[in-house]
Amino acid sequence: MRKFYTCASILSADMRNLWKVSEELEKSGVDILHFDVMDGVFVPNLSFGFPVLEAVNMSTDMFLDVHLMITDPLRYIPQTIKAGADLITFHIESSSDPYETIAAVKNGGAKVGIVIKPGTPYETVLPFMELVDVVLVMTVEPGFGGQSFMKDMLTKVKALRKYIDEKEFPVHIQVDGGISDKTASDAVSAGADMLVVGSYLFKQKHISDGVEKLKRAVYD
Ligand code: DX5
Ligand code: ZN
Repeated sequence: MRKFYTCASILSADMRNLWKVSEELEKSGVDILHFDVMDGVFVPNLSFGFPVLEAVNMSTDMFLDVHLMITDPLRYIPQTIKAGADLITFHIESSSDPYETIAAVKNGGAKVGIVIKPGTPYETVLPFMELVDVVLVMTVEPGFGGQSFMKDMLTKVKALRKYIDEKEFPVHIQVDGGISDKTASDAVSAGADMLVVGSYLFKQKHISDGVEKLKRAVYD
């Protein structure tokens, strides 16, 4: 089975102890910290922004993957990089020009990814595959943790995997939403190699238990 990276979405973490969460994540076998930014307009929810991202960045050396669910990501790229993002993913459905946004992230020295919501066909992102490091296929409607995995999104993952492999583009395929020990294996089989995991991971007694269970579900 393809190797996958576990990206922990701290949206479901205990916010009273965010620095402790960061410490535990470092020791738990999680590869990447996934940070969800919501503006209450692009998605019907608000989360956290730059001060919290800066605080997380100061409390950990982990790779920070920032998922921007906001109307005009281009406007906030410099601040997001300054706050510590190593990877920024933004939605193709946002109002920012994708080419300009990709260029802004790259010029700032971070990795870049483009995201599609469940209703967006995968073909819309094909022109950007030669420019990005990651394509993120949402497997729930963005906005909230704890939703059910939309299995039919895996057709998009498969199609993107085929396209990327045929073209030999070095692009990672990330999935976000409803990942657990029940769904991880299907996602990786379809071609995903970065799994965002929120509620499943943080409801475990120890985060490391969740990481182990995911690995067993995929590799065994
Ligand atoms: C949803 C966010 C996700 C969310 C995933 O809009 O982008 O990252 O935290 O949560 P789970 O794993 O609980 O579906
Ligand atoms: Zn996310």
